[in-house]
Amino acid sequence: MAEVYEGEELIAGVRKTAEVIRERGPALVLTGAGISIDSGIPPFRGPGGLWEKYDVEEYGHIEVMRRNPEKAWIMLREMLETILKAKPNPAHLALADMEKAGFISYTVTQNVDGLHEAAGSKRVVKFHGEGGKLYCMKCGRTRKLTGPEDIDPIRCECGGYFRPDFVFFGEPIPPNALYTSFTEAEKTGVILVIGTSAQVYPAAQLPYEVKRHGGVVVEINPAIGPLTSTITDIMLKGSSTTILPKLRDELIGR
Ligand code: APR
Repeated sequence: MAEVYEGEELIAGVRKTAEVIRERGPALVLTGAGISIDSGIPPFRGPGGLWEKYDVEEYGHIEVMRRNPEKAWIMLREMLETILKAKPNPAHLALADMEKAGFISYTVTQNVDGLHEAAGSKRVVKFHGEGGKLYCMKCGRTRKLTGPEDIDPIRCECGGYFRPDFVFFGEPIPPNALYTSFTEAEKTGVILVIGTSAQVYPAAQLPYEVKRHGGVVVEINPAIGPLTSTITDIMLKGSSTTILPKLRDELIGR
């Protein structure tokens, strides 16, 4: 069972986490949608989640992209417009500072918003691909998206439909992302699990791999989740937007 730090005790938990990173680091980081909420991107699950609005069985699977691209693009347009307007928030920036100072080995992200790279993180593993790039499902032509105005046309000159270069349910994780993430999970002494409901595999397997060989699992999330009562050692119960800058300050000073 995790040691849960919240409210007044949070700073004690942040100090303990900084100590663990100094002793057992550099830390592997796994991020999910929660880290980008304060950049204006809704999560997938819970209040305001994308899957509350669009049935994930209907819109989240590769089958809808293949069979009914016009329908898939209803959800995709909304998702990509939000992502392409978003800017990194203090949590993304703090992780980039911590990486620069040598306290983070890799940031494995389930997010497709590109905000870790935009914040300056260099060692980012895009576990579910990226939303800022489209490719034609018929001829393979690619297009970069820099802003919401780039989303159209969704049809290629060849007559095929474009799709985002990210992983739908029913598709494999990019092999290089899988290899790097699990290789690092087997090596690291500490993993920071930030802003994820830890319900989607194989991403959610990473903290279990770290725990299996004796690594420390630290969770940063306002909500208790499936890891907290099983493998989490330190639970910093709160928003990553406020906690990560405090952790950065503990490690490298203000
Ligand atoms: N700071 C940190 N965590 C937060 C914050 C915050 N300010 N606000 C919410 N959270 C947490 C929620 O408590 C929840 O645990 O962020 C998590 C969001 O969970 P999901 O919406 O399920 O997002 P995620 O875990 O990234 O989903 C994984 O599912 O649909 C697929 O491919 C999609 O990558 C996504 C995957």
